[in-house]
Amino acid sequence: LVQECFFFDTIDSTNQKAKSIGNGLEFQQCLIVSNEQTKGRGRLGRQWDSEKGAGIWMSLLLKPDFAPDLASRITLMAAAAMSEAIEIETGIETAIKWPNDIVVNGKKVCGILTELNAELNHINYLVLGIGVNVNTRQFDAEIQEKATSLSLELNNQWINRLNIIKLFVEKFEIYYNQFVNENDFRPVIEYNRRKSITLNKDVEIISGNTRKKAFALDIDMDGNLIVKNSDGSNEAIYYGEVSVRGI
Ligand code: BTN
Repeated sequence: LVQECFFFDTIDSTNQKAKSIGNGLEFQQCLIVSNEQTKGRGRLGRQWDSEKGAGIWMSLLLKPDFAPDLASRITLMAAAAMSEAIEIETGIETAIKWPNDIVVNGKKVCGILTELNAELNHINYLVLGIGVNVNTRQFDAEIQEKATSLSLELNNQWINRLNIIKLFVEKFEIYYNQFVNENDFRPVIEYNRRKSITLNKDVEIISGNTRKKAFALDIDMDGNLIVKNSDGSNEAIYYGEVSVRGI
């Protein structure tokens, strides 16, 4: 799956770089890793702190041969694969906040930003951007309460980033091939259900300017979050541009 790997010491954003490569024809699949990002980007237009040497800032460029509406599955695959990689390498127990945050003791250690370049029925390329706070020692005041790093969770023990990247690629490939070759997405969903901190909780669903309260029931086989609305109806939430908060 990963045919080529590019390493940078500093770059604006690995997602941005992947997009510029995605537009060319040279590589089908590649991994881009940077030691630092000067314009790291998060979901919903947020910025993503990407201090030099402190984390894994990487993007996987993929050209999957399936319909654009299946792209959200890639995010869930990545969350499962990264959660497993972190647990194997560090022994830290992780949880997944649907659809794409990995959380340790209630604080975020990893975020995923999937960006798609697609036509009606066809994905031109997909960029899977992953940020993991690995050896970060200090966070900015405004995110201190919400973010942590693997090292902080292990009494400042230094953690090997390359081992986590290798494990991630290995696990991700298994899930990806299972889906592409056998149309089997069940292992990803089962992992996400098992590790979810979203399920069986009251949540607030924020989409643009609208907010509503609901109860998170399940993750369906397509990777959507099934919620019960306050009027009693069930609804499938597609990951798109929504933010789900526990309340
Ligand atoms: C989020 O939780 O908001 C998603 C954060 C994604 C951050 C990663 S770091 C590597 C890649 N390049 C970026 O600019 N963003 C993603």
